[in-house]
Formats: sequence, C-alpha cells, structure tokens
Amino acid sequence: MNRTLGILVSGRGSNLRAILNSVKQRYIKDAKVGVVISNRDGVPALSIADEFKVKRVVIPSSGFAGDRWAYDRLLIDSLERNGVTRQGGLVILAGFDRILSEEFVKHYPNSLINIHPSLLPSFPGLHAQRQALEHGVKVSGCTVHFVVPEVDAGPIVLQKAVDVKEGDTEESLSDRILKEEHRLYPKAIKLIVEGKVSMSGRRVVISR
Ligand code: GRF
Repeated sequence: MNRTLGILVSGRGSNLRAILNSVKQRYIKDAKVGVVISNRDGVPALSIADEFKVKRVVIPSSGFAGDRWAYDRLLIDSLERNGVTRQGGLVILAGFDRILSEEFVKHYPNSLINIHPSLLPSFPGLHAQRQALEHGVKVSGCTVHFVVPEVDAGPIVLQKAVDVKEGDTEESLSDRILKEEHRLYPKAIKLIVEGKVSMSGRRVVISR
C-alpha cells in the first residue's frame, strides 16, 4: 500500500520533523510526502519542510475566520493537486491551529488524523496540559485519533501515558508529553499506511 501524506501545520513543527525523519529513515516505508501546507507564513515548520526538501505551500487563513469551507476548499485543491487524494491520501494535522469544516472531514473518510497532548477523552481543546495540571490528574499523555467534525472526539488510534510529577509546570509536562508525541505519531502513521488499522464502529482495530 502506498499512501501520499499531506501534512498541515501552523507553527513550531516538531511533530512534522519527527514524521519527516521517520519517512526519510524508512521507519515509515510505504508512504511519500506529497505536500506540507501551512496556514501561516514564516513559521519554523516551513523551514523544517525546506530542510527535508519536501514541497511546501502557504495558504494564508487570515480573512477566512467566518467561512471555514471557503478556506478548506483551497486546502483540498492543494492537497489533491499534490497527490493527497480521497483514496490514496492521508492527511496529518501536526499542530494545525484551525478547526476543519464538516465538508473537509467528510472528504477524507478515515484518512485524516490528529495528535492531541492529553489522554482523550480527557482535556480536549486548547491548553490540554494546563487543563490536566489544574485538574490534578496523576497521569496524562498523548492521543492519535481520526478526526471527526467534533473537536478531539474521533476514534482513537494510539495513546501513550505520561506520569505527572510533583512540581510539574505546564512547560515541563508539555515537554515530556511532546517527546512521546514524536514517537507515537510516526508509529500510528506507520500502522495506517501499512494497512493495519481498521474500524469497528468507533473502535479502531489494529492488526499486528
Ligand atoms: C503538539 O503539542 C500537538 O499535540 C498539538 O499541537 C502541538 C504541535 O506542536 N496538536 P509542533 O508544532 O508539532 O511542535
């Protein structure tokens, strides 16, 4: 199975780097990177795409605040033009800071994934690590999930737990979770492109 990856970013790009490294080092073998798309110009993620010599495109989202679908149509055009099709594509959100329209989500059935820095369904939305600390949980972590129209609510592919330590700050906890994200996301992508992931209702079944 050969999948073409489309990776959507907005900022720092550390997960993008982990994914590009995994493709380059052939940990993820059955995929090629079609395009990296950022909704913001000048962000570090774009320099990372350049470093790995993958195609990158900026589609500024300013001015589209009230019309998600108008913007998402531009995303689909660019993804499709770069081989990230409904059938053979896999769209990967890697710190993409926009909520996608229902139309976009439906365009990529079971081929649109995200990583979130908590053990979902706990602490969806923004500042998940801060929410976890404020709640006082002893364990948090990260989750790779398929995207559905409701934010951070889709079927869970993989999760990794991370202990919360006495004296943790938002920054120290985020750093420890992020290290796990960089392992978990490539692992999930590898399973998906190898065709080892299927759905049973809202449960994700993984064959090894
Ligand atoms: C990560 O914490 C990820 O879980 C969340 O956004 C952050 C992106 O970081 N969805 P980076 O841009 O990959 O460094």
